[in-house]
Amino acid sequence: MAVILITGAKGQLGNELRVISKNFYGYDFIFTDVETLDLTSDIQTREYINETNPDWIINCAAYNLVDKAESEPDKAMLVNGTAVKNIVDVVRESECKFIHISSDYVYDGKNNVPYSEYSTPNPQSAYGRSKLAGEKYALQHHGSMVIRTSWLYSSFGTNFVKSILKNAGEKDTLKVVFDQTGTPTYAADLAGAIMSIVSGVIRNQFALSAGVFNYSNEGVCSWYDFATEIINEAGLQCKVNPVLTKEYRLAAQRPEYSVLDKSKIKEIYNLTIPHWRTSLSKCINLLN
Ligand SMILES: NC(=O)c1ccc[n+]([C@@H]2O[C@H](COP(=O)([O-])OP(=O)(O)OC[C@H]3O[C@@H](n4cnc5c(N)ncnc54)[C@H](OP(=O)(O)O)[C@@H]3O)[C@@H](O)[C@H]2O)c1
Repeated sequence: MAVILITGAKGQLGNELRVISKNFYGYDFIFTDVETLDLTSDIQTREYINETNPDWIINCAAYNLVDKAESEPDKAMLVNGTAVKNIVDVVRESECKFIHISSDYVYDGKNNVPYSEYSTPNPQSAYGRSKLAGEKYALQHHGSMVIRTSWLYSSFGTNFVKSILKNAGEKDTLKVVFDQTGTPTYAADLAGAIMSIVSGVIRNQFALSAGVFNYSNEGVCSWYDFATEIINEAGLQCKVNPVLTKEYRLAAQRPEYSVLDKSKIKEIYNLTIPHWRTSLSKCINLLN
C-alpha cells in the first residue's frame, strides 16, 4: 500500500488533500502539521520520515506572510527554504517521490505574457526569495516535482475570497487593486491535480516527470475583477471600486503580472483545468 505523507496539512491545500483523500482507497495517507512534524527541525524531520517510510511526500507547509517576511526574512527562509532541505536530505538517495509547492512570487511580475517554467525566476520580495530557495533544495532530489501556483483560496483557512465575503457583508463599498493581474487557484482543484498525478504514477499510467510545473485555474483577472465576481456570485450588494496598488503602503512588492502558462503540466499529465469563475462558484456554494 502506497504511503503518502502530507505536511502542513492544516493549511488550505493540506485540508483539500484531506477531503479528496477519501476518494482514494488503498493508499495510506499520513497528515501532519507543525505540532506533529516541525519541518524546521532536521532531527525531527529525519526521524519522522525514517519511521513512516513514505513512498510520497507532498509538502504543503509554508510561511505565507508576504509582508511580514520583509521584516523577518530569516523566519520565512527557515520554513520555505531550510525545511525543504531537511526533507530532501532524508529522501535524496531514496525512491520516495516529493511534490513541493511553490509560488508565482518567484517571477518578477514584469512580463506581459504568461510565465512559463522556462522563464528566469527573479523574485522581488523576501517571500519570493525564500520560495525560490525551497525550489532549489527540492530539485536536488531526482524524484522531485515543484508546482508553482498563484492566488490560492479554499473554503478552509483565511484567504482573499473569505476576506471579501466578510468585508462585503459589513460595508457598502470596498477598494480593490486593478493593476495586478494573475489567476486565482482553487486549492481543491490543485489537490485534485496532485492526486491525479500521484495515482497515475502509482498505477503506472505515466512516470513521474521531475522538475518545475506551473498550476493555476484557467483564465486571467485582476484582484478587482476577482472581488467583483466573488460579490456577484455570493449575491451581495457591496460596490467595488478599482484602485491602484500605489494607494497602499505594503511592505512587500507584489508581481504586477503573474499569469502562469500551464501547458506543460496539462500536456504531460493530461489534465483539464477549470476556469477560475467555475471553481469560484463551487467554493462560494460551499461557503454559503
Ligand atoms: N496562499 C496563497 O495565496 C499561495 C499562493 C501561491 C503559493 N502558495 C503556496 O501553496 C502552498 C500551500 O499554501 P496554503 O495557502 O495551503 O498554506 P497555509 O494555509 O498557510 O498552510 C501552511 C501550513 O504549514 C504549516 N507550517 C508552518 N510552519 C511549519 C513547520 N515548520 N512545519 C510544518 N508545518 C508548518 C502552517 O501552520 P501554522 O498555520 O501553524 O503556521 C500551516 O498549517 C504553500 O507552499 C504556499 O507557499 C500559496
